[in-house]
Amino acid sequence: MKRSLTGIKPTGSIHVGNYLGAMRPALQLVESYESSLYFIADYHALTTVHDRVQLHTMVYDVAAAWLAVGLDPARTLLYRQSAIPEVFELTWVLSCLLATGQLERGHAYKDALGRGESPNAGIFNYPVLMAADIVLYDTHVVPVGEDQRQHIELARDIAQRVNHVFGAGTLVVPQPVIQKELIVPGLDGQKMSKSYGNVIPLFASQKDLKKVVMSIVTGSEPLEAPKEPEGSTVFTIYRHLSGRAAADELAAKLRAGGYGWGHAKQDLLAALESELGPLRQRYAELRADEAELDRLLEQGAARARTIARATMERVRDATGIALRK
Ligand code: TRP
Repeated sequence: MKRSLTGIKPTGSIHVGNYLGAMRPALQLVESYESSLYFIADYHALTTVHDRVQLHTMVYDVAAAWLAVGLDPARTLLYRQSAIPEVFELTWVLSCLLATGQLERGHAYKDALGRGESPNAGIFNYPVLMAADIVLYDTHVVPVGEDQRQHIELARDIAQRVNHVFGAGTLVVPQPVIQKELIVPGLDGQKMSKSYGNVIPLFASQKDLKKVVMSIVTGSEPLEAPKEPEGSTVFTIYRHLSGRAAADELAAKLRAGGYGWGHAKQDLLAALESELGPLRQRYAELRADEAELDRLLEQGAARARTIARATMERVRDATGIALRK
């Protein structure tokens, strides 16, 4: 049985770029594994978020968002990282088999040093916790973006080392599945990103969605002029959202002339509304019921913990910490 696992760092604002670039493809990928785990990496978030209300709120935001876009909690275990204390026990074991040099070469740690920061030890140790997140659940594949490749390689290295030192079969050696990054442009044409302030929020009200779409930067050709769709923000978002066939139709209209960027924006708005309208509704319902979100997260955690306990029992036995009777 192939098991896939992904960790989601909770983040404040979820936008159309996250949805088209990461969430929608991830949900499609889930279909190809017999078992999949999705967890909210709240303890990883603690390396940078030191505001209790913010951290607490973001976990619910992210849980509600994934459920709203279609994560099925009956098929995919959705849980908080922090609900499984075994992950810290395993983090310690793994760190005892890892040379500090490997952490010193970590991209995120080195980048922080490069920016002249003095990163906390949580940032330094981030990859060990992440390796534990993965191997604790006998994970075979980890679908991630290119930016996470080094972390998965490190998890592989540690798992192989554990197996070499303590016996073959102690841990499952995970494999990365690198998802090609789909770059969704934001309102100003740069990559859609919270840090550029150019996002279309995923759950914006109909009114706000309209305002935001109308503010997308376009060319200023007169209405009659033929227009080149390729490379324009309105068209690119439309294509990612609606697919080839619908995009070809819009491209033909723009190229023919007599069709303005304002018309294209109306098309984009209609497409966004038809896809996001139902998601917005579901999100609002889910987000309003934190008790229900807790129940779903705890249900996922209980199932995940069964797997975690079995792995830790194997690891304690293999290391001599506690021999199995
Ligand atoms: N580091 C990942 C990110 O920033 C999140 C994450 C934490 C993760 N633990 C994981 C991803 C385990 C995959 C597997 O996106």
